[in-house]
Amino acid sequence: MVPTRFKAFRIFDDETGHRSEVVEQGVDEQTAGDVVIQVAWSSVNYKDALAGTGKGKILRQFPLNGGIDVAGVVAQSESADFREGDEVLMTGCGLSETRDGGYSEYLRVPSEWLIPLPQGLDLREAMALGTAGFTAALGLYRMEANGQTPDMGPLCVTGASGGVGSLAVDIYSKAGYEVCALSGKSEEFGWLHELGAEQCVDRHGLEWPSAPMASARFAGALDNVGGEGLSGLTRMIKPWGSIASCGMAGGIDLNTTVMPFIIRGISLIGINSAGCRYSIRSEVWQRLAGDWKPRHLDKIVTAVSELDGLPDCFERLLSGGGHGRTLVRIGADAAA
Ligand SMILES: NC(=O)c1ccc[n+]([C@@H]2O[C@H](COP(=O)([O-])OP(=O)(O)OC[C@H]3O[C@@H](n4cnc5c(N)ncnc54)[C@H](OP(=O)(O)O)[C@@H]3O)[C@@H](O)[C@H]2O)c1
Repeated sequence: MVPTRFKAFRIFDDETGHRSEVVEQGVDEQTAGDVVIQVAWSSVNYKDALAGTGKGKILRQFPLNGGIDVAGVVAQSESADFREGDEVLMTGCGLSETRDGGYSEYLRVPSEWLIPLPQGLDLREAMALGTAGFTAALGLYRMEANGQTPDMGPLCVTGASGGVGSLAVDIYSKAGYEVCALSGKSEEFGWLHELGAEQCVDRHGLEWPSAPMASARFAGALDNVGGEGLSGLTRMIKPWGSIASCGMAGGIDLNTTVMPFIIRGISLIGINSAGCRYSIRSEVWQRLAGDWKPRHLDKIVTAVSELDGLPDCFERLLSGGGHGRTLVRIGADAAA
């Protein structure tokens, strides 16, 4: 039974300006869909913090519920593919961009984007991964499709202490890669080693090369930061290696030359988790529940928030003060 009123964290931008708050709403006030989920868990990603604070243009319409990730149990379905009681998850796919997102006790969504919870994950683990884990895994999926293998040498992960970064360290090391974690938080190097990093490098002490090609130190990379870091990486990748570019925490510029591309044959691969097509999405989630399931999810989840604690989580994440992943407990006990 879906209650007539329930709690949701809603983002507004109207005559009084940008604001977000916990409101009471009914499912009929939400964007369209043929399945209603009783939400158990969501999570906090960089994009959620941008959306919730208004510091980034994430929402394409207002108001909407925040939360680009959701996991829960089907409470009502008009879809032939899902039945009441099914455990499901959804990441990206317009959540908190063009449709209401997962920070809501109940959420109406189109079933075409729902992923049945893969065997090997529970709802909490699915959201410990969330968009961050899916993005890290999609980066590896795309690099391997482009020929990356562990015997080519180490993979560099930038922004390694963040959500995507820490999950990438865990997943890539489990997949057999030597991982070099690049981080601005030297106090977290011990933690990054525990997650699987063989080397940790302080980005504050790093001088990125300016020559079109420098000594090739890494066989590939997942880049969360963009700007100077990504520009520098293109100059340091070994022949035939790939860089999966997913983030812009350090800037959106890319200053490089064609030299590493045409002399070393390196590749720059764009990662767009939100718009990933269903067949790949489904395959990557199966990997995340199987051979790529991180070994240290409990160490990577460093905080759990309720809906009303979200504004503090957003500020902490944007100020660079946290590390790992923050889960959002919504109806976890009720949906269990
Ligand atoms: N393309 C996609 O589909 C996709 C999906 C998910 C996320 N993203 C993007 O990926 C990035 C990471 O997301 P997230 O959720 O993991 O965020 P996060 O938890 O905040 O992690 C970002 C990390 O980047 C590093 N960083 C922050 N400011 C920096 C700066 N000025 N220069 C260099 N490094 C900086 C920090 O790590 P250290 O202190 O360890 O260096 C920080 O922990 C974001 O840009 C996000 O928008 C993209």
